[in-house]
Amino acid sequence: MDLASEIVKLKKQKKAVILAHNYQRPEIQDLADYVGDSIELSRKAMNEKDAEIIVFAAVDFMAESAAILNPDKKVLLPCMGARCPMAQMLTADEIKRVKKLYPQAPLVLYVNTLAATKAYADICCTSANVLKVIRSLDAETILFGPDRNLAEYAARNTDKTIIPVPEWGFCPTHLLFQPEDVQVLKMQHPEAVVMIHPECNFEVQKTADFVGSTSQMSKYARESSAKTFIVGTEEGLLHRLKKDNPDRQFILAYKEAVCPNMKLNTLDRLYASLTEEKHLVTVPPETARRARKALERMLEIG
Ligand code: 13P
Ligand code: SF4
Repeated sequence: MDLASEIVKLKKQKKAVILAHNYQRPEIQDLADYVGDSIELSRKAMNEKDAEIIVFAAVDFMAESAAILNPDKKVLLPCMGARCPMAQMLTADEIKRVKKLYPQAPLVLYVNTLAATKAYADICCTSANVLKVIRSLDAETILFGPDRNLAEYAARNTDKTIIPVPEWGFCPTHLLFQPEDVQVLKMQHPEAVVMIHPECNFEVQKTADFVGSTSQMSKYARESSAKTFIVGTEEGLLHRLKKDNPDRQFILAYKEAVCPNMKLNTLDRLYASLTEEKHLVTVPPETARRARKALERMLEIG
């Protein structure tokens, strides 16, 4: 059986749309209706008026956001185990503790959080709009979680005081990038442009010509005249970069930078997900109502 063509057939029959994050396996990216970063996929999820099912090939928090923004649609996550470890790093108890210390400070939460946590946010952000969101707030001091590196990136690029919540939140995949590796690659490819995701630490960000979200990197590469790029993010993005720019060379800044959680979605699981309409992602109504406010406020800003 040709799984890919079966999936395309099923997708039509069931009025389903497949949204895939830039870190998905190449065969899933190639089948998807849309491939993008967190903000693009949230917008796509909202604008899919005709679809009855959204299959979200990514991790838990992204599918949850789609479910929150689409209460009338079935949102399916092909693999139940595809969970982002960073999203588990911030709990409601930690938020309550820090809010007591800074009662006036608004809470900005990276979309890489679970719905139960998002419900406490004043506004959400992604790595693509974090600076816009922070600058839009009429406050000097801002609570920000769970990614400490993104918090530092925001602090360095705005005039706000950013308090990271928790103090240590991180992405295990982006933690793998080290400045030494980028320096060696730069020596080997002196003409290369360096693009780094803001989930990498500041020492790695300092090596960059461009810091941005996965889709922002893709746009930057398309519009650049450079021929060679060193890329500091999860390896899945290279498939899209090479596909969009067949005449250019993309080098991963650390060969083993793989997010095992994102890779849990396979063609087999995607097929089973569509056939059996699993795994349905649901969010309790009151949590969804509060989290939706924070997500919609973000989407209004950009
Ligand atoms: P973006 O695709 O929004 O840059 O996010 C990266 C990421 O790590 C998502 O989990
Ligand atoms: Fe989470 Fe990092 Fe994987 Fe993104 S790359 S889903 S932040 S673990």
